[in-house]
Amino acid sequence: MGTRATTTRRSFLAVAGLAAAGLAVDAYAGHRPREAPRPGARPDDRASAVRLLAAPATIDLGGRTVETWTFNGELPGPELRLRVGEVLRVRLENRLPAGTTVHWHGIALRNEMDGVPGLTQPLVEPGQGFDYEFNVPDPGTYFYHPHVGLQIERGLYGPLVVEDPGEVVRYDREAVLVLDDWTHGVGPSPEATLAALRRGGMRHTGQAGGHHGHHGAGGAATFDPTNPLGADAGDVRHPLYLVNGRSPRSPTVLEGRPGQRMRLRIINTAADTAFRLAVGGHRLKVTHADGFPIRPVTGDALLIAMGERYDVQVQLGDGVFPLVALAEGKDAQAFAIVRTSPGTSPRAGVRPAELDRWVVTVADLDADGAVDLGRRPVGRTHRLVLDGDMETYRWTINGHAHHGAAPLAARRGERVRLVFENRSTMFHPMHLHGHTFQVRRAGERRAGPRKDTVIVRPLERVTVEFEADNPGRWMLHCHNAYHQAGGMMTTLAYER
Ligand code: C2O
Ligand code: CU
Repeated sequence: MGTRATTTRRSFLAVAGLAAAGLAVDAYAGHRPREAPRPGARPDDRASAVRLLAAPATIDLGGRTVETWTFNGELPGPELRLRVGEVLRVRLENRLPAGTTVHWHGIALRNEMDGVPGLTQPLVEPGQGFDYEFNVPDPGTYFYHPHVGLQIERGLYGPLVVEDPGEVVRYDREAVLVLDDWTHGVGPSPEATLAALRRGGMRHTGQAGGHHGHHGAGGAATFDPTNPLGADAGDVRHPLYLVNGRSPRSPTVLEGRPGQRMRLRIINTAADTAFRLAVGGHRLKVTHADGFPIRPVTGDALLIAMGERYDVQVQLGDGVFPLVALAEGKDAQAFAIVRTSPGTSPRAGVRPAELDRWVVTVADLDADGAVDLGRRPVGRTHRLVLDGDMETYRWTINGHAHHGAAPLAARRGERVRLVFENRSTMFHPMHLHGHTFQVRRAGERRAGPRKDTVIVRPLERVTVEFEADNPGRWMLHCHNAYHQAGGMMTTLAYER
């Protein structure tokens, strides 16, 4: 494994400046919160608030020590855990040399707590703080991260688990697995990586047609199970891939006893890497997608893109097993160990056969009946054409980058349909704030899973629907941090 992050892109362009990596702050400065805190939320009750300190820290990645930015000096940041319906209170303190925020990814919270600078709150400047306080309405596996530039790529992220007292899934143990791609302090910084992508990374490397020349508007892209995201699954080859902040040289160890059912809550916080995860000698029973229950599906491996979360259950065998998260299209992997008995650990480079068997993807999943949105007339449909301009390295939605388009409108109470049409040769994990949509498959009566982040494969069309039940102004963007920095974002705005 090399120690330099190298860009693999053939077509990237030099857009606006680095300032474009942030958001169009001024355009939204006039926004006012519309919902008062819920009864029971006590704004000045600081005693029970969790403190999140965003600051530079020295972190041991397992054989490599790096100077980077984290929450509370930990990587991942501290696990926040509460029960559904409870109020989360967090005091953010910013000791970074840059402004920041915290976004609560996947939570249908009140708009002014969503952590998007310029849209829902001002940037929290160095030396300042911000109090987050909101109700968590849905159980599930979530995470938090800043919504500023490439800060997530430096290690500012942590898991957020909302427990369900009425949980029907039975298990004996639980482990949270945070997957990440890493360059800062080992290879170039995220900002240098972005600059390189913009400068020279846009040269062609033989991909016929680059981003243009293919128009998959019919949604008829073919699916290759050995290469589920197409030939072009990432822009950056990171020097390290991590599970819970640990490199394969000194991996995380999950312990259990033979026969136990272990629940894995898997979170992909990477900037540019989708992972294919498997546990050697085991099958994965997938029970939740982006926090919401599905009809369980048992497969050999699982595809998880940036911003997605899956809960799976594993019935533990007797021995020592590799847990491998293959970095799709990058010839590298993240690694952990599952141990239920003494014995020699598997090598970090091992490739469990399960990775090449049945890989569960979103196409295999359907919502549990309890969270199925059902069918009802659609009040409005928005079409979102996803593309990249190889001459300029802009990543666009309907031809616009960086909120250049008018916000997508919604009215409270209506069913809204979004149709994503990917005209580029890269996949995009599209993420909507403040809502959980349901994936609809054309011509099929199946339910489709509830999600807040959905993979749109190259040249594919994906339709989702959601209930417009959470007024405010919400981000809708690609969760590839470099694509987002390149402009692939827009806003959903409720009409007054
Ligand atoms: Cu985790 Cu707007 O994203
Ligand atoms: Cu993208």
